Amino acid sequence: MDAKTLNTLRERLPEAHLSKRLIRQTEHVSMRFDVRKIELSHFYWENFDLMPKALGVILKLTLLMKRSCANTLRYRLRQYDIPIERLPPAFDGYRILHLSDLHIDEILDGGEQLCQTLAGLEYDLCVITGDYRFDTYGVHEETVVRMSRLMETLECPDGVVGILGNHDFIEMVPDLEALGITMLLNESLAIERDEHRIWLAGLDDAHYYEVHDIARAMADIDASEPVVLLVHSPEVIEEAEAYGIDLFLCGHTHGGQVCLPGGIPIIGNARCPRDKLSGRWRHGRMQGYTHRGTGSSGLPVRINCPPDITLHCLKTSPVLSAEQ
Ligand SMILES: [Fe+2]
Repeated sequence: MDAKTLNTLRERLPEAHLSKRLIRQTEHVSMRFDVRKIELSHFYWENFDLMPKALGVILKLTLLMKRSCANTLRYRLRQYDIPIERLPPAFDGYRILHLSDLHIDEILDGGEQLCQTLAGLEYDLCVITGDYRFDTYGVHEETVVRMSRLMETLECPDGVVGILGNHDFIEMVPDLEALGITMLLNESLAIERDEHRIWLAGLDDAHYYEVHDIARAMADIDASEPVVLLVHSPEVIEEAEAYGIDLFLCGHTHGGQVCLPGGIPIIGNARCPRDKLSGRWRHGRMQGYTHRGTGSSGLPVRINCPPDITLHCLKTSPVLSAEQ
């Protein structure tokens, strides 16, 4: 990381956050090149090449490789009405485009089909819940080039807001913000309509780097106003519900990416109940959505789990039941 980027991040983030991120990023790179440095407490199959290689061999032997690759470009648009009890009427019908896990530098057609699909959509805000890069380490120049092309397609009055995932290094933040993405690193942002507000709070990665700080992200938020929390993975659900979050938007799991018929995930790669691995869910009074991923990781293939483009439409509603 160059000195200018480091100074910018130092001015913005608590020292404990930045140093923990940088140390763990360095350890992660070491571990990728020397398996003796693997910490079992942080062992995830997603960080090792063995599984994608084995999957590739199986798909080639079963003649499923071509179809599995083509599936990664067959985007499924999912649209949901999300009733939020305390939503101000000015936000009734507010549309949030939710993208996640783009891993954009390895999208097989360079993002052509994705941009075409997005070009016809109307929405007020776009959120991206982490994992812009395909690999978990290394350079990110191609990621930024492809994100630049995507940003030309994303048009909405309240802009594009993002968070980091476990495939992203913190030094990517200035480059992503230079493209016009507002990155939230345990920070928040208010959106106003007719003197009423909803809040977006965004956490740094809770899955691998464990640098999330929900207290800091919520520090400026009026407790009486609705909050949409952006988290990379569905792994701080209890804490978020205790903070009174209204809507928890996350990704990371890819919904399994390679699934059994019916979209049943084989591997979720997240410390959460299986009913939180994909799609809509509820925990207490908090609603949530685990995105199935717009891109693919490990190997650019998908089986029984189409890539996801999601539109959440916020609605005013009466009191919701307390438990799922
Ligand atoms: Fe991830």
